Amino acid sequence: MALLPTDFSLAGRTLEEDVYTGNGTFLLAKGTRLTPDQLDSLVKHRIDVVRVCDAYEDVRTSFPPKGSVAEQMERFAMERESMAHYVRAMAQTKALFDKVTEDSIPSLEEFTDAVIPVVKEVLRETSIFRFLYALEGSENYTYRHSLNVGMLSALIAKLLCLQDEEISMVGQAGFLHDVGKVLIPTDILLKPGRLTEDEYEQMKFHTVFGYELINRMEGATEAIAQCALLHHERLNGTGYPLGLTENNIPLLCQIIAVADTFDAICSDRVYKERTSPFVAAQLLWRAACDGHLNAEIVTRFAHYIVSLYAGSKALLNTGDEVEVIFIFKDEPMRPLVRKGEDFYDLRSHRVWDIEKMIG
Ligand SMILES: [Fe+2]
Repeated sequence: MALLPTDFSLAGRTLEEDVYTGNGTFLLAKGTRLTPDQLDSLVKHRIDVVRVCDAYEDVRTSFPPKGSVAEQMERFAMERESMAHYVRAMAQTKALFDKVTEDSIPSLEEFTDAVIPVVKEVLRETSIFRFLYALEGSENYTYRHSLNVGMLSALIAKLLCLQDEEISMVGQAGFLHDVGKVLIPTDILLKPGRLTEDEYEQMKFHTVFGYELINRMEGATEAIAQCALLHHERLNGTGYPLGLTENNIPLLCQIIAVADTFDAICSDRVYKERTSPFVAAQLLWRAACDGHLNAEIVTRFAHYIVSLYAGSKALLNTGDEVEVIFIFKDEPMRPLVRKGEDFYDLRSHRVWDIEKMIG
């Protein structure tokens, strides 16, 4: 355990004791994994130092996994309430997606009941993303991806200060963005290698299928259906299915495009291994510079998401294991890391990248 100055480098670390304000008002409970918002609140309340678990101790107790994705989730769920919500929601998601056919579509309310509790939980405790992106394996990718994009989209909506109603709607829309994939042949959907041109053209139809399915869903809105149709549109007109540009793409669809891209990069797939959130944030930033994604959304999201990984263990592309020590405001994707007793500023070591989070 260590008594450390209150700053944003403590994001993701666990409080070792309850925290009270100067006048004795209870602020945060022992065991809380600190988020940037909570650290901001501590600074505003002039709490200069906090007692937190040792980073390595934190990492050891939080990241023991190996085995199938389901086994890893179960072990995380025993320690984290938010992960228990996630595991339940994933089972519900699988059941609901299995129920979607040409003739039978569950109502929006049924989908909402599955996803809203976990969205609320993740907005309360965003550190769940550290667990999600430490999971190894591509089992149940479609269901996990739907759930993750719902949660990430709601998080982005919150970072953009949208109203509660819009946050909830974008969470639902993110959750349903790929529902049209249930009508894509599984040999294309789960193909381990690259898709042929013809298969890729068929895959693109999941956007239109999703739009049609959601429009037939009891209680769904046009805005939610549009998110399924337009989440692969790109600001410079290079997306599909309509090749829309800039403001012709609704903001909610632009949010889901960022969440969708990020989750796909950070997850294991049948044809590729996952990449770290730091590299994913760099790739998002490049996509924004190339005119594909909305730069304001990417900037706010990338800064926030990587700040959750202070204190995490990671693997560099050199093969070295390091601890993420400090996230810089000017270049959050290239943090200060520690290898053994030595510290390295990745802003000065530009050929080194954080390839994978390992704890
Ligand atoms: Fe998609």
